[in-house]
Amino acid sequence: MTLNQRKCKLSRLGLSLFALLILVATLSMEPATGSNVTSGPGDVKTGYDSKTYETRSISVLKRKGAPADLMRVLQSPPRGLPPVPVPKDNPMTQKKVLLGRKLFFDRRLSLNETMSCAMCHVPEQGFTNNEMATAVGIEGRTVRRNAPTIYNVAYFSHIFHDGRETRLEYQVWQPMLNLNEMANPGFGYVVGKIRSFSDYKGLFESAFEGRGPGIETIGMAIASYERTIVSGNSAFDRWYFDNDESALSASAQRGFGLFTGKAGCMACHVIHKDYALFTDDAFHNTGLGWRFSVGDGQAEVPVQIAPGVKIMVPKKVIDSVGKPPPSDLGRYEVTQDPADRWRYKTPTLRNVALTAPYMHNGVFGTLKDVVSFYNKGGIPNPGLDPSIRPLGLTDDEMADIVAFLQSLTGDNVETLVRDAFAAPIGDRR
Ligand code: HEC
Ligand code: HEC
Repeated sequence: MTLNQRKCKLSRLGLSLFALLILVATLSMEPATGSNVTSGPGDVKTGYDSKTYETRSISVLKRKGAPADLMRVLQSPPRGLPPVPVPKDNPMTQKKVLLGRKLFFDRRLSLNETMSCAMCHVPEQGFTNNEMATAVGIEGRTVRRNAPTIYNVAYFSHIFHDGRETRLEYQVWQPMLNLNEMANPGFGYVVGKIRSFSDYKGLFESAFEGRGPGIETIGMAIASYERTIVSGNSAFDRWYFDNDESALSASAQRGFGLFTGKAGCMACHVIHKDYALFTDDAFHNTGLGWRFSVGDGQAEVPVQIAPGVKIMVPKKVIDSVGKPPPSDLGRYEVTQDPADRWRYKTPTLRNVALTAPYMHNGVFGTLKDVVSFYNKGGIPNPGLDPSIRPLGLTDDEMADIVAFLQSLTGDNVETLVRDAFAAPIGDRR
């Protein structure tokens, strides 16, 4: 097969899968009511509105930007968070942060100038994408994993679900060069393009002591912006670290008791004495990766068609129109150690109420689904982490844990989103 034939076949496959999803979506959704329509120019979702569908995306014309003092986080990190780690060779400056922000929102940084970082890490959707279980890249291409949030990535030494990258400075090049994300053909291509944009003239030189756009400086600028997307001082933080009894509801307080006690969540989602990142920065097998790789003969699989709207589709229908899902072996892909098969990074739980859908493959649409998954003991398989076991939680107890998870939303979310809206969107020449 020539490359072109193959491309053609692939896009036909993509199209038929798309058609199937539209068909299924049309059949299963309620007719548009006309009320509650949150779409607008720049964000047309006609025929997408339903009583069960809610979007957090805001149309471009309705966005109200307000620049924030992003550098403040360096002097005083929000309550509950440690100082932001900043590498010695990339000290943060206002100029770098603003340049990084401009790059993060610039759709011209993709091959066909349609896709920016912010289109998978959508600010008003928790800097992730609430509408996709797994991300969709340039020209609708499939990305095999769920887009994690950018909130608090500054703190993690393992980047990506499998921890394959070590620094934010380096990370930016993966989406930029991946064929199914931003699809740029090479480093030089991106660097050359940025050099050619008149609105970037002098910006790099002034942020990097005379150095222009390059592999390093582009990574350093975007990383600097990401290090300001730090969010804490949640209701939980005010209750736990500031002893403000009134900050947390009784239900969330009970949830905290279960989280740190009977439910054993804290074994992996760690809370320290002075701060809490809710991760052990390690990798664990909960069974989800195993299930989707090895399979357990399920006849139907959940397909998310809109936030919170999931339908069951017979596996044989999916198999008849699509390719089998790309294989995903988790941490093993980095270490080649068989014990690491289907282990994934423990994500932070801060702002988790804003970052649905959940897990590396976005299989769960709600926190309730996640908690009931843990309550059942995950999915038994040879590598299942010993801390994942049936928990015997009642419905009320599970609701308390959800209330606790909902208390982890930082108080500066709105500020950061408004600041993001104030970023120039560079898609004009
Ligand atoms: C097509 C959607 C898409 C685009 C565009 C995209 N990302 Fe991502 N991003 C993802 C997905 C999916 C992952 C998880 C991939 C994995 O773990 O293998 C991810 C992971 C990340 C992570 C790691 C987060 C963590 O907790 O480990 C960071 C940081 C990040 N992206 C930043 C960026 C930046 C910067 C850009 C632009 C240069 C960008 N992304 C463009 C989808 C996207
Ligand atoms: C053995 C370690 C471990 C334990 C115990 C554990 N988790 Fe997790 N948690 C993980 C890992 C690893 C993931 C990511 C799994 C994946 O990506 O497939 C995760 C994911 C999550 C997510 C989804 C976050 C996101 O952004 O996708 C939530 C919510 C969560 N855990 C809550 C809990 C709660 C509540 C408990 C206790 C009932 C708990 N966890 C117990 C390791 C653990």
